[in-house]
Amino acid sequence: MSRSWVEAERAVIRRARLRISVLVALAITVLVAFVGGIAYAVMVHAQEAQVTRELRYNAQFGAPSTPPGCTWLFILENGVLDDGVLKVPPGFPLFEDLDAVDATGETIERALERNGTQYLVLTRRGPADRTVQAVFDTRYQLADRRHLLLALGIAEVGGLLAAALLGLCVGRGTVAPLAEALARQRRFVTDASHELRTPIARAYTRAQLLARWAKAADLPDDHRDGLDKLATTIRGLGDVVDDLLLSARLSRQPEDLTGRSVDLAAVAEAAVATEEDRAAERRITLTVTRPDGPVVVHGVETALRRAVDELLANAVRHTPEGGRIDVLLGLRDGRVELTVADTGEGFDPVEADRLFDRFHRGPGGPERRFGLGLALLREIVTSHGGTVEAVGHPGQGARFTLRLPLATTTAEVREISTGPR
Ligand SMILES: Nc1ncnc2c1ncn2[C@@H]1O[C@H](COP(=O)(O)OP(=O)(O)OP(=O)(O)O)[C@@H](O)[C@H]1O
Ligand SMILES: [Mg+2]
Repeated sequence: MSRSWVEAERAVIRRARLRISVLVALAITVLVAFVGGIAYAVMVHAQEAQVTRELRYNAQFGAPSTPPGCTWLFILENGVLDDGVLKVPPGFPLFEDLDAVDATGETIERALERNGTQYLVLTRRGPADRTVQAVFDTRYQLADRRHLLLALGIAEVGGLLAAALLGLCVGRGTVAPLAEALARQRRFVTDASHELRTPIARAYTRAQLLARWAKAADLPDDHRDGLDKLATTIRGLGDVVDDLLLSARLSRQPEDLTGRSVDLAAVAEAAVATEEDRAAERRITLTVTRPDGPVVVHGVETALRRAVDELLANAVRHTPEGGRIDVLLGLRDGRVELTVADTGEGFDPVEADRLFDRFHRGPGGPERRFGLGLALLREIVTSHGGTVEAVGHPGQGARFTLRLPLATTTAEVREISTGPR
């Protein structure tokens, strides 16, 4: 329910819409190009076949003085050239081809560019021992090809525009249910949290009353402790629910975050104090190094507390007996840095980013672990405008660093190094 969730949801929906538009556009482009390519190939092939047929026919039966359109005929007979009465294009006839065919009798067929157009020239032995050269100007065929290409280009651009519009409409239609599902999920969390508040508040009041009554009734110590713990646990439950509601509100009105100041140093010290017993049990040295005075960030205290708790719980779990955990707080480049460094089992550096994926768990015993702690931590941190980084090596410990924007109230606090990195 954090701001990052909302942003992530919007990004997912935007990406889905974009992907659909691009896919539809791509499909239409490929289709037009495919159909156009086939039409173009068929047309070129048909033109070439027709021109070749005409050239052969004219070389066999045509007369230089009355050639068909776009064609010129030259006949070489006994060393005399008959080029008809028509004006022939510059560069024709091709004397070298006439001479070659006259000498060898072998047919020569060629295409050549000249006078800004393309000619097909067939030189061969004709009837009655004559050498015939038929020249065909393909300018109209080339113009037809150009027109077809232009039409295809227009169809492609039109198709792309249509595809973009279609993609937008289809994208809206298909992505709307996804957006609706995400909104419904968000509503469910806020509604359920809201409905849970009252019963939790009642349970907390009852637990407090019982704890007070237990003190007055002179119950045994362990009973009294148990009731105190019950009240504390129920209050913790209430905090979590309040947190969810607050995060939901902040996701809609992020500017509300600015009004809430939290002393991260105090949060870190409180988290360390709770973890001290467990650390002592396993002979783990637990230290906090912090600057003098408060280290203030904007945010939700309970959420930040959960983030620090998670880092400490992980560190204690992954540090063997006799190890060491250091919590370091400092300011660097206008940001607050909170580092939890341990001397535990560490992890493979290539895993560093994946540790923050939901349900990603490293190898380990059959403990009840879900691989969710760091994923939730990252959501908390990003919703506070911060970042989290993990550095580690197998057998050489792990170091998790949270970086959060410093609230302006402590901007003047001098920079304090967090030690070697
Ligand atoms: N301090 C650490 N040292 C070595 N590995 C760590 C450390 N902290 C986390 N990890 C690795 O990152 C994985 C993911 O941690 P995360 O807190 O998300 O899940 P978890 O602790 O396994 O389960 P959960 O927090 O849901 O109970 C862990 O399974 C572990 O392999
Ligand atoms: Mg964990």
